[in-house]
Amino acid sequence: MSTEPTSPVRRITVPQIRDRKGGDPIVSLTSYHAHTAAIVDRYADFILVGDSLGMVMHGMESTVGVPLDLMIMHGKAVVRGTRRALVVVDMPFGTYEESPNMAFRNAAHIMKETGCGAVKLEGGARMGETIRFLTERGIPVMAHIGLTPQSSHVMGGFKTQGRQEESWPLHEKDAQVVAEAGAFAVVLEGMVEPLAARITTQVPIPTIGIGASAACDGQILVLEDMLGLNPSRPPKFVKVYGQLGAMIDEAVRSYAEEVRSRAFPSESQVYR
Ligand code: KIV
Repeated sequence: MSTEPTSPVRRITVPQIRDRKGGDPIVSLTSYHAHTAAIVDRYADFILVGDSLGMVMHGMESTVGVPLDLMIMHGKAVVRGTRRALVVVDMPFGTYEESPNMAFRNAAHIMKETGCGAVKLEGGARMGETIRFLTERGIPVMAHIGLTPQSSHVMGGFKTQGRQEESWPLHEKDAQVVAEAGAFAVVLEGMVEPLAARITTQVPIPTIGIGASAACDGQILVLEDMLGLNPSRPPKFVKVYGQLGAMIDEAVRSYAEEVRSRAFPSESQVYR
């Protein structure tokens, strides 16, 4: 038996993600529970415990109703299940917008309880002061601009951003403000390609695209969407890499049939 000490797996850090600007594309997926996170951990640079879990795991209509405790519970599971990827936890609606102080209290609570490495919050220029307040006090922040699902009521639904060129300066300003305020990366969601490409060249931090084209410095998808586990039709920007929904259906159907016909449990599943 070898007595060589095995080198411990080190988690990817916030500066390592920031330094990937313009380099090899950053790989990311969402995950909400320990076992899927352990699989994602082998391949992803960072894992987002997104507040999309409200819709994906808990059948909510939108992310607006997601409570802080739920994010913490899923965040803990993902940190427990992983060793390598940076874990980022979403700050849910209503836990950071009111003031930088409130944002700090809740972000610190998330980090202490879950052991995650960073938080993500939605909003551009309007969140600049808060992002600066958090980063100056030791909380790494990933920003999220473009289509921001927590504001879907104001936006009138989930709409692709930047279709009118006149709107581009606002999005560009959002990206510049969050970068200047200290965000280490920025998610660009649901944005036309030329705008995402312009922002990516303008800001010194990595852009992580979801529905924002390959022009970004990295990509993120909701794991259940790319695994074919979304019961509704996923958005155009999702590529479905597996059909787990159909596989689960088939497995459960076979089980039910075998229980009813008494084919399960059979000899090999029985203690004699
Ligand atoms: O909540 C989430 O899953 C997200 C991603 C879509 C970026 O914010």
